[in-house]
Amino acid sequence: MKKTVYWIEGDGIGKEIWLAARPVIDAALARESDDRIDWVELLAGEKAEAETGSPLPEATLETLRGASVAIKGPLGTPVGTGRRSLNVTLRQTLDLYACIRPIRHFTGLETPVKHPEKVNMTIFRENTEDVYAGIEYAAETPEAKKLIAFLREEFGVGKIREDAAVGIKPMSAFGSERLVRRALRYALDTGQPSLTLVHKGNIMKFTEGGFRQWGYDVAAREFGAQTCTEKEAVPGRLVVKDRIADAMFQEALLHPEQYHVIATPNLNGDYLSDALAAQVGGLGLAPGVNMSDSLAFFEATHGTAPTIAGQDKANPGSVILCGALMLEHMGYAAAAERIRSAMSKAIAGRAVTVDLADQVSGSRVVGCREFGDIIGAAL
Ligand code: NAI
Repeated sequence: MKKTVYWIEGDGIGKEIWLAARPVIDAALARESDDRIDWVELLAGEKAEAETGSPLPEATLETLRGASVAIKGPLGTPVGTGRRSLNVTLRQTLDLYACIRPIRHFTGLETPVKHPEKVNMTIFRENTEDVYAGIEYAAETPEAKKLIAFLREEFGVGKIREDAAVGIKPMSAFGSERLVRRALRYALDTGQPSLTLVHKGNIMKFTEGGFRQWGYDVAAREFGAQTCTEKEAVPGRLVVKDRIADAMFQEALLHPEQYHVIATPNLNGDYLSDALAAQVGGLGLAPGVNMSDSLAFFEATHGTAPTIAGQDKANPGSVILCGALMLEHMGYAAAAERIRSAMSKAIAGRAVTVDLADQVSGSRVVGCREFGDIIGAAL
């Protein structure tokens, strides 16, 4: 059977990482199944601009609105021009509300911590609300002044300086609950021991505190969760707990083995996913997926790496691991695991791309294409 996957090449290193990655993804699937991926290219970014005059053609958006699986390389955002980030536009237009990033260690990668293998977490980050909603006004603009005057006059807020820039942090029950619901479903489906709501509700009581409460509410209302102390938890049942964000950063370093699925608002999730990826030495390898209720849109978490583009130096690992995540989502868990263990074997073989060389003792530097071939051979 042919399964359609829409793919966007991406800018900068996009072309070369795909040339290395696609054969690995196809080969992993072919080892496990007679099914094949029908790769259908969609235009976005520089390639789209050159061919259609628009960096994000309506035809691409229209196809994605009806799609169930898509995967993309990095898209550049020009600095200093008015164009908004295409990634942000895609997330908002397609309502990709959950950003999901699994974090685990690959044996052989040197890391800043002694026991990176204790980290095995999946982060669910809310993608549409919080300070990322983009409701922000620059200092001393008429909008900022008007808003400050309103807060002073209508709500008696005395703590805002006249010349402040102002941002608004909207967080809703709807937005929080659908994210936590998805994380709970994943935790139960994959037999995880715990799900942790990470928030800053001690300070921001109604936004972050709201997230915590709505998270517990959806667990109780829709999944039958019952309140108990951590000691009273029934073995084999999913434990839903919460941690204040700053404490969670300590916990991630001190007791990572006690955390499995994390559900958290946008900004906390942004910090935590990069910190955890760095903790396991995998910033350049981290895969991710942004999901709506209908579309799973996988993406390499790095950018376009313009300074090494076209030089066969880029690491295709993030896109390859995105491919594994995608295959898992499509029901090919064994093929996904095969890719991950091939990645481990490739790293253990010490022939790696230049970005990983510092983290692998006795490494030999290979190019993008060759690294892809090595992973493919290790399948
Ligand atoms: P970047 O991730 O492109 O580069 C940061 C550093 O990591 C650079 O030293 C780069 O050479 C290196 N690097 C990144 N990916 C690599 C790979 N696969 N293999 C080897 N080395 C790699 O981040 P930067 O420089 O901040 O952004 C460049 C462009 O990418 C910007 O236009 C930005 O908007 C865009 N970007 C796009 C993202 C996406 O599409 N999801 C995410 C982040 C940035």
